[in-house]
Amino acid sequence: MRQDHLITATQLSRDDIEAVLDRAREVADDPGAFADRHAGHVLALCFFEPSTRTRMSFDSAAKRLGMETIGMGDVDSSSVSKGESLSDTVRVIEGYADAMVLRHPSEGAATLAAEHVSVPVVNAGDGAGQHPSQTLLDLHTIRENHGLDDLTVGIMGDLKYGRTVHSLAAALTNFDVNQHFISPESLRLPRSVRFDLHETGAQLREHTDLDDVLGDLDVLYVTRIQKERFPDENEYHRVAGEYQIDAETLDDASDDLTVMHPLPRVDEIAPDVDETDHATYFEQAHNGIPVRMALLDTLMENAEADEETEADR
Ligand code: NCD
Repeated sequence: MRQDHLITATQLSRDDIEAVLDRAREVADDPGAFADRHAGHVLALCFFEPSTRTRMSFDSAAKRLGMETIGMGDVDSSSVSKGESLSDTVRVIEGYADAMVLRHPSEGAATLAAEHVSVPVVNAGDGAGQHPSQTLLDLHTIRENHGLDDLTVGIMGDLKYGRTVHSLAAALTNFDVNQHFISPESLRLPRSVRFDLHETGAQLREHTDLDDVLGDLDVLYVTRIQKERFPDENEYHRVAGEYQIDAETLDDASDDLTVMHPLPRVDEIAPDVDETDHATYFEQAHNGIPVRMALLDTLMENAEADEETEADR
């Protein structure tokens, strides 16, 4: 992957994805070979929205590469609460760190940050926009379980506000994958995402009922209804609780069906699914370590190559 930042999954080609996932496999096979690779470098964790998995796995991944990490702490205790603009904040942080991971409630925040700094920026979620590093670990999980071609994938839940869905759907167009989208009418994929998918020639198969496709699926990717993004809470309550699965729902699924979820789950997947061979969401979350190590390693390597080219000029 020859990229300076990771902002959106649409920037990733099949080769880019495979290069990171190959490296993630190398990391998983021999993590010691990557220890201290980036010693002396600092990663800034800039989280303007809550996060457990993404923040902690980037923190852990960076440390396993020998990096130090710094965080902003609570947004309320940072200068953001004094009204500082995002572009000023990231310009300052650029002087403290060699790379930054940014999560922000506004769509486009990571794009803006990348325009203002020269260190690598990873978009760790921009509002209802994109979450491309989650996609890399999702693809790694799919690849380890099924390979990435000749597959049928169902993506279910909040397709409107779910940024992991927007990134995953875009990335899957690089592979021979039939994608099915299952949601209530009001939470269909947004027009812009549908447009981008059409542009790639991907066929959009949309359903309101999981039973229409369950039996055909190799992967079922379940997502949380993104309560915090609904402008109107009544609208949330109208759709909350629809699209739940339990072990019985999966009686009609293929034995090899892999059930994934970016987590956190609320009530979309009943705990009895955890006991089935379908449950893959904890493995998926754990894949955050090798995949984010591979991603950081790649971006740091690219940044160092850029510096050398600059120095040779
Ligand atoms: C997701 C997110 O933040 O978009 N979580 C994650 O990073 N694993 C999904 C969600 O919040 O529902």
